Amino acid sequence: MKFLNEKTLDNIKKDIIFVIARTAKEVEMQGKKIYNGVLGTLRDEDGNLFIHDSFYKIFNAVEDSLKASYATAIDGGEQFKNAIKQWVFQKNEFLKISEVVATPGGSGALSASLDKTLYEGESVIIPDIFWGPYEIMINSKKLKAVKYSCFTESGFSLEPLKEAIKNVMEKQNNIVLIVNDPAHNPTGFSMGKALWEELISFANSVAQNGKTVTIINDIAYIDYSENFEKSREYMQAFKNINDNVLVLFAFSGSKTLTAYGMRIGAVVVYANKQEDINAVHALLTHVARATWSNANNGAINAIIRLLENEALFKKDLLKATSLLAERRNIFITEANRVGLKFYPNNEGFFVTLVGIADNQKLYEYLIRKNVFVVPQMKGIRVAICSLNKQQCLELPKIIQDTIREIENEK
Ligand SMILES: Cc1ncc(COP(=O)(O)O)c(C=O)c1O
Repeated sequence: MKFLNEKTLDNIKKDIIFVIARTAKEVEMQGKKIYNGVLGTLRDEDGNLFIHDSFYKIFNAVEDSLKASYATAIDGGEQFKNAIKQWVFQKNEFLKISEVVATPGGSGALSASLDKTLYEGESVIIPDIFWGPYEIMINSKKLKAVKYSCFTESGFSLEPLKEAIKNVMEKQNNIVLIVNDPAHNPTGFSMGKALWEELISFANSVAQNGKTVTIINDIAYIDYSENFEKSREYMQAFKNINDNVLVLFAFSGSKTLTAYGMRIGAVVVYANKQEDINAVHALLTHVARATWSNANNGAINAIIRLLENEALFKKDLLKATSLLAERRNIFITEANRVGLKFYPNNEGFFVTLVGIADNQKLYEYLIRKNVFVVPQMKGIRVAICSLNKQQCLELPKIIQDTIREIENEK
């Protein structure tokens, strides 16, 4: 302890997801059949990592000298930046005035986006059903997380977010919110264009008279939207942002490329004025230099080459999204049949069940049945990305029976 700062120690929170994943692995190694719905890594029907061959063929052909060298620029260089903009925005040409910085995964993009945007002690707004590392990042930057409840069993509403924004605005001039959409982790909900338009119109109404709004759009799962062509439609809402709204897209190569360990991603900066884009790009490049220097150059070069031939890669993605859609349908149909409640869910890697008052207890009871899922304050996250179709069929009943066992104990 004596080597550490007491204040920062208070903020240390374990990432339980990796702890649970390790426990699951240990039980599996004992030869037991387990339901492993923990990690957000896509697996095939035999439990092996689902890998996009088109990406790995190209990555393996990248010359060793390129893999070994530093990137041509801290931000990834022009070719990488153009490839990312083309991929992330597709037909939304107006967004391509943006700037890009290469990052180690989506985590790097999120972490850099939170750096120096606010003053110490100020708040970042996130939903109360969220990907745990947001809070770890926010705390580590000496900021506070303010949470709002937009997900209910019966649907989704932006009103609690608007309330949260109004409250935070009374105390600080710059508002920062993280919106993980499409295919929100952990619910699998996608807001769609109409809700995004509503959010932008509200952001515009408050981003006036010295107040600004920064929307960090975490697009980690965008490429697992069930309809690729429609997945970027919501971005048209950004056409209407006013000059005091900034959008930072956090792109994850881990998910899009099935390259979790490669640590590649990007933050893409969009605002109305080029001078604002350039200023934020300069800051993020500085944060990158001060934190990880440059990103994985082998991955940068593979991305440039891969995205020159999008068609092949899109075929791989389609295989993945079709498999996910099948699993989701099976899981949800069965959940409905046994009366298991879940939060609004459209697509992506996860389903979040409403759970019970004590989800930690439910989680512990499920472990006794060799079922590994992630307990949340407001539910139980099931990673359908790593369960096969048969398991998706069996699991809802096992969970529902376990809930009943707990209820019958009372
Ligand atoms: C919601 C969300 N955002 C971002 C990430 C970032 O992942 P990575 O840093 O591996 O790109 C993840 C990974 O699980 C995630 O679930």
